[in-house]
Amino acid sequence: MAVQTQRRLSEGERKMNGKLTAASAAALAAATSAALAAGGAGSIHDVSFPFEGPFGTYDQFQLQRGLQVYTETCAVCHGLKYVPLRTLGDSGGPDLPDDQVRAYAEQNFEVFDAELDDFRPALPTDSFPANDSAGAPDLSVMAKARAGFHGPYGLGLNQFFRGMGGPEYIASVLTGYTGEEKEEAGSILYENTAFPGGWISMPPPLEDGLVEYQDGHDSSLHHMAEDVSAFLMWAAEPKLAARKHTGFLGVVFLALLSVLMYLTNKKLWAPVKKGSRRQAAD
Ligand code: HEC
Repeated sequence: MAVQTQRRLSEGERKMNGKLTAASAAALAAATSAALAAGGAGSIHDVSFPFEGPFGTYDQFQLQRGLQVYTETCAVCHGLKYVPLRTLGDSGGPDLPDDQVRAYAEQNFEVFDAELDDFRPALPTDSFPANDSAGAPDLSVMAKARAGFHGPYGLGLNQFFRGMGGPEYIASVLTGYTGEEKEEAGSILYENTAFPGGWISMPPPLEDGLVEYQDGHDSSLHHMAEDVSAFLMWAAEPKLAARKHTGFLGVVFLALLSVLMYLTNKKLWAPVKKGSRRQAAD
């Protein structure tokens, strides 16, 4: 009797499991097709940024435009708390003159000073402020925390040839809105072809001509998206040019060392080789 009950139970369970598997397979299929409709893991378009390739460096003026886009739009919701304001004056970066860095910090941000027990205008020695007012992630290292390119088949070849694609991912998210939105659990989601899953809670932050560039550059949506992505790449990896330079010197040094070692090796073993040849002749 007990055995029977058990068997019946396990049969029931098996049926249940079967149903669950079918349900989860259906859910998976639905999720996959939704994701596929949104371009799988997101459709990322390649951008040829000036800082790519073994000798690429940041374009100072692009970074300055990106800074302007960040300040005027993204900073409303996103912090950049690991980036010190003084680095805006670094050569290889936006390279602003010292007085402009100071003026930028003072005019745009306020920080709470524990010593004064009050807010004061930011100084170059402060970092960009944190900002979690909208529940948006900090952007300090976002460009390095995301990968735009994957595969094929887990080989990572796309990343080898095109780079990790962090800035491409950001640019694609910013330009990937379809205009569709839906409400889910009380929050509004926006359809986005680059964001994994296809729906993001960030409202479209950019539109054509939103920012009026100080250098008069064309501020179409694509330009602004690329400029701010380049700026965020610099924020995440400010020493990129120095790293590439050192890497290149390292390769040159190792190449020279290989030649010297080869010649040394030949010279060291030359008498032994000569000796063995004579022995063979004897
Ligand atoms: C109105 C507030 C708001 C503004 C303005 C805004 N964002 Fe966002 N952003 C968000 C929120 C909220 C999220 C979290 C979205 C999510 O996870 O669904 C987010 C997420 C992101 C992400 C992360 C996506 C990921 O893979 O997790 C990036 C990158 C981003 N924003 C870049 C920007 C940039 C660049 C700008 C300026 C051009 C900007 N945002 C302006 C609110 C905002």
